[in-house]
Parts: sequence; C-alpha cells; structure tokens
Amino acid sequence: MSQQQQDCDVLVIGSGAAGLSLALHLAEQAAGGIRVAVVSKSRLSESNTLYAQGGVSAVVDARDSIASHVTDTMEAGAGLCRREVVEYVVERGQECIRWLGSLGVPFTTVTGADGHTELHLTREGGHSHRRVVHAADATGRAVEETLEARVRGHPRIAIFENHLAIDLIYGAKLALPENRCLGAYVYDRGRQRVVTFRARFVVLATGGAGKVYLYTSNPDVATGDGIAMAWRAGCRVANMEFIQFHPTCLYHPRAKSFLITEAIRGEGGRLLLPDGSAFMHKFDPRAELAPRDIVARAIDHEMKRLGADCVYLDISHRPAEFIREHFPTIHAHCLEFGIDMTREPIPVVPAAHYLCGGVVTDLKGRADLPGLYVIGESACTGLHGANRMASNSLLECCVFAQAAATDILANLDAVPPPAALPYWDESQVTDSDEEVVVSHNWEEVRRFMWDYVGIVRTTKRLQRALHRVQLLHSEIADYYGNFRVTNDLIELRNLALVAELIIHSALLRRESRGLHYTLDYPNRDDRVWQRDTVLSADTLAAVSRQ
Ligand code: FAD
Ligand code: SIN
Repeated sequence: MSQQQQDCDVLVIGSGAAGLSLALHLAEQAAGGIRVAVVSKSRLSESNTLYAQGGVSAVVDARDSIASHVTDTMEAGAGLCRREVVEYVVERGQECIRWLGSLGVPFTTVTGADGHTELHLTREGGHSHRRVVHAADATGRAVEETLEARVRGHPRIAIFENHLAIDLIYGAKLALPENRCLGAYVYDRGRQRVVTFRARFVVLATGGAGKVYLYTSNPDVATGDGIAMAWRAGCRVANMEFIQFHPTCLYHPRAKSFLITEAIRGEGGRLLLPDGSAFMHKFDPRAELAPRDIVARAIDHEMKRLGADCVYLDISHRPAEFIREHFPTIHAHCLEFGIDMTREPIPVVPAAHYLCGGVVTDLKGRADLPGLYVIGESACTGLHGANRMASNSLLECCVFAQAAATDILANLDAVPPPAALPYWDESQVTDSDEEVVVSHNWEEVRRFMWDYVGIVRTTKRLQRALHRVQLLHSEIADYYGNFRVTNDLIELRNLALVAELIIHSALLRRESRGLHYTLDYPNRDDRVWQRDTVLSADTLAAVSRQ
C-alpha cells in the first residue's frame, strides 16, 4: 500500500447537515484564504440527514414563543437539558431557517385567503405549538441536497468521498509536549490505503450510531465512528444510555429502515392494535402526541402483551388528496409494498433512531481535546437531556455548525499548521484470513444490543450484554492488531466500543428517566440522578474496579 498525505486548515469528518453547514460557513466567512477538507465515508449525501422527514423546529409563528419552545424541549428532556444551551439553540431557530431558505431549501409554504404566503408548520410529539418547518415529508433530503450543491465545486472546499476516518492524530499519542488535535488517519476505500490528513483544526460531524441496534431507522453509515474516535483520543462522552427509539418504522420484511414520520400523528394519525382499537390514551393524556419515549414504550408494551409483530398507524380518515400532498414520499414508498395509506393503516414497529448522548462539548462545539470540535448528532451539547424532542436535531446541527465555524475562524491565525506527522504503520500486519469473524461479530453486537439494551432494560440483561461486548472487544482488538484495516473492521471496532459505552452508562444510571427505562429502578430519582452520566477513561477504570 502506498502512503499519502493531505494538508488543510480545517478537516471536517462527515457530510450531513452539521458537517456541510460548517464547511460552507468556513468557506464563505473566512476573511483570508482557507482550505477546508470534507471527508465522507460513502457518497457525500449518504447520512442520517438525507432521510430526515419531519422537519426543523423553529419559532416562526407569531402565536408561538421562544419561551414555549424552551419549555417543551426541557420537559421532553426530563430534567437533564441545560437551560442555557436550550435557549441558545432555540433563539437561533429563525436565523437557521432563514439561512437554509436563502441557500434554496424548498420549504413547504401555504398561501392564505389574503394572498399572503408563509411557511407551513407541522406538529410533532412534545411540541405545544405547530412549529416544525418542513419540505413536505422529505425535509432532510431537501436540506442535504441543497447543501451538497453549494459545497460541491466550492473553490475553498476539497471533497473526499468514500474516505473513512479511522482515528485522530493528537499530541499525546505522538508524545509531544502539547496535546492538540493535529489531523486524522483516513482509509481511502477506493484505493485501499490509509491517508494522513494534517489540519490546524478537526471537526467530527459523523452523526449517530443507530447501527449498534439490529433494527434502526438509520442508514448503514451510522456506526458511531466519531464518538469512538474522540473517546480513544481521551475526550469525555455523556448520556449514552439515552437512545431514542422512534415509535413508527414501517414493518415489512423488505422495507429496510424506513421511517413513518411523527408528523402523521401530528396531522391526526392514530395508533391502533391489530384488532383496530386505539390504545395511546391509556398511556398518556396527550395520546399519539406524547413524547416519543412514551409512545415507543407503549407500543413495545402492547406488542409484548399481545405477542403481536407490529401495531398500526392510521391516517386514512383524512382526505386522500391531503395525504398525497403532505406525505408524498411515504405514500409512494408504502405503495411499493402494497400498502395504500389513503385507505388502510400502515403496519409499524419501533426502531433505534437517535443518540441523545455523545462527545461532551461546549457552546462553541469544542470537545476536551484542544483543536477538536464535535457537532451534530455525535455531540452531547446539553440540548436534548434524557430525550430529544422531535425535529430539534437538524436545528442543533445548524446552530452548532455556525457556532463552531465562528470560533475556528476567530482562532485560525493563532494556530500554525502541524509539523510532519507519522504515516500509518502497516509494518506488523497482513491481509485478513477470516473475514467471517468480522461479519459474525457485527451481527452479534447488534442482536444483543437489541435484545438486552433496548426500550425496556434490566440490570441482569445489561450485565449480560457487558460481558459479551467485553469478550468481543478483546477479539476485535486482536484482529485489529494483526490484520490490515478494512471498512467493516474499522466500523465494527467503533460499533463495539459505542455499545460498551451505552451499556456502561445504562448500568450506572440506577433510575428510569426519559429514554432510559429499567424494570429494576422503574422510578425517576431526582435526588440522586438529576445529572448527566459522564464517562471518561478514569470513571470507567473506577467502575470496572468496583
Ligand atoms: P449525519 O447526517 O448522520 O451525517 C454524518 C456523516 O458522517 C455522514 O456523511 C457519514 O457518512 C459520515 N461519517 C460517519 N462516520 C464517518 C467516518 N468514520 N469517516 C468519514 N465520514 C463518516 N431530525 C430532525 O431534526 N428532524 C427530522 O425530521 C428528523 N427525521 C429523521 C428521520 C430519520 C429516518 C433519521 C434517521 C433521523 C431523523 N432525524 C431528524 C435526526 C437527524 O436527521 C439527525 O440527527 C441529523 O441529520 C444528524 O446530522 P449530522 O450531520 O450530525 O449526521
Ligand atoms: C420524524 O419525522 O418523525 C422524525 C423527526 C425527528 O426525528 O426529529
């Protein structure tokens, strides 16, 4: 394998809403010259962002208020949101929508009787007002493709598709006196070689980790790489036990990872048992519009109680024209599977959807390692607490992309380019002899995480999962130490690490709150647990000694 080095001022790892927004801000706002490199492990647009349906929450209606959006977010977050972060993000909602609109994102509008056109707002769980700005039912695609069109061909942005970041390069790793992030090793999937990227600043915008679970709404790229990389570089991670399961993914043997947006419930959709009866009112007075942790748990409860494979989401009482206009993507996709949602209910099940925890960052997106920023779903900013409110995530990506860009630009001149960095060392490894080890372990992690670390947990199940993941770890470490890296091996190593961080966090939190529900501690305990679950290498060492 030949070696190669790439130099840039800012290395952006990940090309969803967070990474592309940040790259664009940097490129457009830098006073002098700037070289931004965006690396993305698949094609540029492949990301959680691309599949987002519902929309972007923002206070744009005169009858709504910042205070109300803040209160709803804090309530959904079950006591763990940081008020200053919630206010910071919510206050920037309108600016974010204006910016996306100015780039050309085709948000859905309505024209009133007086001929005045305004943004159409939909409603989702936990929101006490209509405040979700959207592009029909494919908001993420509209955002991602608009950003992609702006970034591609930008003279200050170099794009590296099919490039998978493996690990960060930082001072302590090289035994340098200053511990600062200096770049990353990146696997070029096409040429099957590892490239050394040198940068003054590095931004992780690698998204979530839905693939840790067997059933997920996330695409294949969501393997928690950024969180694993930051953790290995010594950064703290927090609140990893708070995995959001989306209540309604299409249930069909051939429908891989297809979400049925919560906006359907916002427009009157009802959840039904197989016998056609409604049930959500028995679990929460807000019924279908309760926050999604409550809805997902209710569905899980009913499915287990009845031994049912799925429940049903019915919006067929609304006019067919309305359904086709508001939910064209879902309507067309369901039809491909022989389900006509204008006439019949859609079979649905919960699936892992969003990671509320992540790398601990501040209001500028800075992580513990100087020179490293983490933004988007990989970060734990304090916005979501124990449960993210619907459509607050794209907003967070947008706001923190701007915050991080501003901070990087303010400090760019003060940071010199790093000196020469060592190349990736392959002197001790050979080609893998048993790929089956990797594929088997991929499957195993995802299966036990689903069975033991899912919507409803127990200490015993979590301990079982911990035992298994630790065994896998040593096997993977052994494999990693002896064989050349491949795409699957790099992802598996990250997946297993993220799984372990989730399990440790879930074991540490001895109460039920937000998205973490355990039968052994079914109540919320504000006296002891109204705090984040922060993991560092030191806390984990202390826990494993107990
Ligand atoms: P992503 O968009 O996931 O982008 C991550 C990028 O990093 C990808 O390009 C990926 O390929 C790349 N990457 C990952 N690892 C590496 C690596 N090692 N090397 C190089 N590149 C890497 N949120 C809302 O607010 N509103 C919604 O309506 C909504 N609907 C959703 C619907 C679905 C089906 C899903 C899955 C999520 C939805 N969410 C929604 C959540 C939201 O889409 C995500 O949280 C958000 O898009 C995350 O953006 P991001 O930029 O942080 O990460
Ligand atoms: C959805 O459209 O239901 C997803 C919204 C979100 O995850 O924020």
